[in-house]
Amino acid sequence: MGRMNVPPRLPGGGFAAWSRDRLAVARRGADECGDVWQLEPGVYVAATAAPCEAVLRRAEDFPKAPSPLFPPLKGSNRAPTAEERAHAHAARMRGLRAQAVAARVGEIAPGAACFAEQWPTGQDVEVLPAARHALAEIGVRYLFSEDAPTLLPFAAQLFLAREVLARPSRWEWPRWVPTPARRFRTRQQAAFTEALRPIVRRRRSSGRLGDDVLGQMLQPSARYGPLPEETVLDTLPGITVATFEAPTRAAGWILLHLARHPRAADRVAAEAASLPADPAATTSADLDDLRYTQALVREVLRLHPPSWLLTRRTARRTELADYTIDAGSTVLVCPYTAHRDAREHAEPDEFRPERWLDDSGSPADPGAFLSFGTGPHGCEGAALAMTMLTLLTAHTARCHRLSEPPGPPGFQVTTFEGLATAGLRLRATSRVPERSRFR
Ligand code: HEM
Repeated sequence: MGRMNVPPRLPGGGFAAWSRDRLAVARRGADECGDVWQLEPGVYVAATAAPCEAVLRRAEDFPKAPSPLFPPLKGSNRAPTAEERAHAHAARMRGLRAQAVAARVGEIAPGAACFAEQWPTGQDVEVLPAARHALAEIGVRYLFSEDAPTLLPFAAQLFLAREVLARPSRWEWPRWVPTPARRFRTRQQAAFTEALRPIVRRRRSSGRLGDDVLGQMLQPSARYGPLPEETVLDTLPGITVATFEAPTRAAGWILLHLARHPRAADRVAAEAASLPADPAATTSADLDDLRYTQALVREVLRLHPPSWLLTRRTARRTELADYTIDAGSTVLVCPYTAHRDAREHAEPDEFRPERWLDDSGSPADPGAFLSFGTGPHGCEGAALAMTMLTLLTAHTARCHRLSEPPGPPGFQVTTFEGLATAGLRLRATSRVPERSRFR
């Protein structure tokens, strides 16, 4: 075998610097070292679009570690077989793919409109909890339709369990140690599962499976028959939290940009003026007409990808961008730096929603966009997320002008559990003149 070509190390960029400011070190690594760089021996960062895409697509060389947030509960008889996993994935995707979401826009829009209408005006409001509440209502309803109200309180507890687990601790306990956070997680997961089980049984015994995502999961496949109940129950806590967790982070960044770019917000408001007065009457054609709003959402996701760093581990010694990576290495994929590469996007640090539109105002594809990942583990909920966020953005801008409280930014950019605007507060003033509002 020839000489190994190892990715360059970033001077002064080891774990110590990394843990102080991960975004800054990631940017410096991309600037100074290029495509792939070494954070520590055995830990590499794919910093530009080509190696990021290669790692995500080549899932045999760079498998995604099975580190489920909600591992199968003890009572589950066994891990699902590869066939069951494939069946469960295909079933979920029937409910989550773009055409399925497009057919249910009228169920998503009312929650987005309600979020905007209930925003208290004239005072500083903490944004993320309110957005999370609204997005959980929309997401859980999308998964479970009329059974959503039963499950929503349990979904909120699942989120809390996730927050507690994510709190940084000085000590990394082995996976099998039942720390208090893990016991709390398991209790909440069990509670959610026990609330869901009678719903699954009722739907199956009545034969009315439902045409939501749960209904799709209960449809027997021609090849494998019905999924075992435990497989259905084990996969849904993770998907349930996914419907509102990353979307909440995205919503924080979007609303901040509406506040900081009033002309862009005006343009969104103008577009949103043509939405039907009754949100439940919104169709996918209405959504398609929100071209600038969609471009704005994409642009915010480009600049601030909530999942800004994805983790893989090499299964065997392999090549990546002219480098040799040993088996068992960690490879961090960084959409954040891939999106801020001037070869992908002109003036990459500028907020320019128009870059996602061509001269006629139709959607354009100017360069790398990895906010939803790519390849076999790409985001299952991308269509749902784009729909929820576009409608939330449109309805908010239609109702309100947003502004930041005076003084230095009152929020913190957190990078540990995704890129987020922790503690963000914004103030809304109504766009609609008082008189016409109450006529
Ligand atoms: C703005 C919102 C969202 C963002 C930025 C986002 C981002 C991502 C990214 C980057 C991945 C790939 C992770 C990796 O390769 O390691 C992913 C995976 C996933 N996402 Fe999303 N997501 C969002 C919303 C959603 C929603 C609404 C759902 C609801 C169903 C969802 C469900 C999933 C699932 C199930 C996976 C795992 C796929 C797999 O491992 O095979 N996501 N998401």
